[in-house]
Amino acid sequence: MHVRHGAPGSDTTKSATARRESIAPSDDHVIVVFGATGDLSRRKLLPGLFHLARAGLLPARYRIIGSARSALTDDEFRRRAKDAVTEFGRAKPTGEAWRAFANSLFFAAAEPTQPQPLLDAVAAAEKAIGGHPRRLFHLAVPPAGFGPTVGMLGGTDLARNANVIIEKPFGTDLASARALNETIHATFDESQVFRIDHFLGRESVDNILALRFANGLFEPIWNREHVSHVQIDVPETIGIEGRAGFFEATGTFRDMIVTHPRRGGPVSWPSRCGSVTVCGCMTPRKRCRCWSARSGGPAAGMRSWSSWTSRTAAPPRTSSS
Ligand SMILES: NC(=O)c1ccc[n+]([C@@H]2O[C@H](COP(=O)([O-])OP(=O)(O)OC[C@H]3O[C@@H](n4cnc5c(N)ncnc54)[C@H](OP(=O)(O)O)[C@@H]3O)[C@@H](O)[C@H]2O)c1
Repeated sequence: MHVRHGAPGSDTTKSATARRESIAPSDDHVIVVFGATGDLSRRKLLPGLFHLARAGLLPARYRIIGSARSALTDDEFRRRAKDAVTEFGRAKPTGEAWRAFANSLFFAAAEPTQPQPLLDAVAAAEKAIGGHPRRLFHLAVPPAGFGPTVGMLGGTDLARNANVIIEKPFGTDLASARALNETIHATFDESQVFRIDHFLGRESVDNILALRFANGLFEPIWNREHVSHVQIDVPETIGIEGRAGFFEATGTFRDMIVTHPRRGGPVSWPSRCGSVTVCGCMTPRKRCRCWSARSGGPAAGMRSWSSWTSRTAAPPRTSSS
């Protein structure tokens, strides 16, 4: 999903537009995946990129640079990518297709205050590709990393000739979403920005919509006059898998619930209208400690507080709305 968001005509947008470079037309790309050692990269991004490569849907000339604050060698990153594709990919990482893809993979550690290894890797990739490749930065990092990473891209030459993909959650409330937007627009024009969520559960929700709105049997009675409540289960089969820090900062509710049940009406509705309507109908949560009913733990897939605390230095936070 790609949601364009922003304030066209705002001062920040105008100033970013003024800074925008004229972009030479080219399909060749240097793709930088920030958070390349994380769960999303393993589960979705690396298998997805290999799938695109096999299908011939990546540019003729490209390089993919994985990045994180911790360092890996190129070979270690290629091994991780191979494991990820083996576990989560549609096709096995074998043959010429894999060899060509693996040869395009590189790794460069980067901290906002220490961007040099990444700058070197991007320069080497652009030299190897030749011409004027575009840059694509995918920020598969926890929300706390969005601002500093965008700041680093703006503070170096990296934001030039680039697009940026920001993962959800995009802020934790209106004020923080606006603040993040300001940060991004200080570096990127809105036309360069993509906001993405991989698991909107759209197909299953669309099925419900079709069942309700295109079905003379259910349509007249599936409404607030006849339905006392709706329970939405989100049964996760995986644990937090080393992501205690992410769940401590973001919370399962924001990670899963805010975006996933957002489509609330016939498919012709604009999705923003659907999500605003759904949010407007929700009763604010009272201050509570939220437990996963299915697993008896504070986060999806956790079986006890001890399995939570064994993954995080701090005791679990009490969740509040
Ligand atoms: N996992 C999913 O299925 C999924 C689905 C949809 C959206 N997302 C979104 O994708 C993003 C990443 O999620 P994840 O599950 O992959 O998290 P994760 O498993 O915790 O991985 C985070 C990655 O980012 C790096 N990182 C951690 N803190 C950072 C910081 N402050 N600045 C820069 N890099 C940092 C980590 O490596 P270092 O610590 O070495 O830097 C690691 O590579 C989140 O915004 C999440 O909401 C995830």
